[in-house]
Amino acid sequence: MFEGGLVVALDIGTSRIRAAIGEYDEQSKLCLAGMASVASKGLRRGVIVNIESLIKLISKVVEEAEHQAGRTVEELWVSQSAYILEGLNSRGVVAVRSKDREIRKIDVDRVMEVARAIALPMDRKILHVIPQHFVVDDQPGIKDPLDMVAVRLGAEVHVVTAPEAALDNCLKAVNRSGFAVRAMVMDSLAASCSVLTHEEMDMGVLMLDIGSSSTGWILFQGGAPWKSGHIPLGGDQVSKDLSIVLKTPQESAEEIKCESGCCWEDLIEMDEPVIVPGVGGNKPIHVTQRELAMIISARIREMFQLIRDDMDLGRNIYRLSAGLVITGGGANLRGIAQLAGSVFDLPVRIGNPLAPTVENKDLGPEWSVLMGLVQYGDQQNPLDLTDIRRQKVGISGNKTAKKEGGMASAILNWLKEFV
Ligand SMILES: Nc1ncnc2c1ncn2[C@@H]1O[C@H](COP(=O)(O)OP(=O)(O)OP(=O)(O)O)[C@@H](O)[C@H]1O
Ligand SMILES: [Mg+2]
Repeated sequence: MFEGGLVVALDIGTSRIRAAIGEYDEQSKLCLAGMASVASKGLRRGVIVNIESLIKLISKVVEEAEHQAGRTVEELWVSQSAYILEGLNSRGVVAVRSKDREIRKIDVDRVMEVARAIALPMDRKILHVIPQHFVVDDQPGIKDPLDMVAVRLGAEVHVVTAPEAALDNCLKAVNRSGFAVRAMVMDSLAASCSVLTHEEMDMGVLMLDIGSSSTGWILFQGGAPWKSGHIPLGGDQVSKDLSIVLKTPQESAEEIKCESGCCWEDLIEMDEPVIVPGVGGNKPIHVTQRELAMIISARIREMFQLIRDDMDLGRNIYRLSAGLVITGGGANLRGIAQLAGSVFDLPVRIGNPLAPTVENKDLGPEWSVLMGLVQYGDQQNPLDLTDIRRQKVGISGNKTAKKEGGMASAILNWLKEFV
């Protein structure tokens, strides 16, 4: 039987841990062979707080995906919560060295080295360095400067940094589950690979990944990330609000939100009553769907306003010709696109990822990070110039892995992917 190479993804979320196995077929096309998810434990706001629980869950979810795929896996592409990450822009300039002043790979390598040399606190390290564009002499906006003639080469990059301890804990958890880490990828960056189109990234788009404990945002322009960040609020905050206001256990509030919740009143046609279980033997009460919507929309509106301020919408609105894309489990909330449209004053769509199956199945937005990791791995885009796994783990070699060609090939891969 044909056994193609594998790309295995692990999305460690605060509410669920998800794993997917992509397998190359005889035509070298990646197809989804297994996919599983388990309720998460051991994380708070994307940060590991109980490593033992996490280890068990990682083993469980990957084994389940292995069982479906009928394959055993060795190394994983692993998500990192935007909650612990920080994005900033940096730039560098170097003189072109060659006599004929043609820009070579070595010049690109050097300018990227200079651009990534930022002052970092001792406890943080660089997770991604993504080129936004190159400046060839005074000409900005160049995607591929190789072979151009110039005196100076500049690069503007988006750098994502992470706390070293959090990365080490994640690495330890995956290793102790019996797997190696192929690379770690910011969750919102991974999600963008599965839900954004190249045109949107080029024209300028804002993507929100509404998870359970936090919401990551990432702004693309000119085909590359321009700004990224997060707010410490996600879908669970809405359930907490409902639980407090309606005096019901949080599990019931979560169920009510998912089944009857809406954050745009105009969508409610029949204002049917919803039964809310009481706490500790108290009698259930009835609320209307409109009342629910009032509680939910207040919180979601506040979250959108925080993101709008955090990303400085006023200054960046001209960068967003392609509007707003919302993904993550929180994007399942009814009316969220309408509410976002009114707060951001942008066209909005929900980002549902396509699973790489024969019929390209449409999945819910909660699968976008996982599917994005599979795509990211498929493209073998070694944006992770720190390549954390190499520092600690001996990798026995991924069957699908092509040789990594250092920084320049990282840039070229990035360019190939998004130009
Ligand atoms: N139908 C629905 N309506 C409203 N909210 C929903 C619905 N389905 C899921 N959610 C919410 O989505 C959130 C979970 O999203 P997701 O699975 O993307 O989070 P996560 O990746 O585990 O968390 P994080 O990214 O914060 O670590 C939960 O808060 C859940 O209540
Ligand atoms: Mg998530």
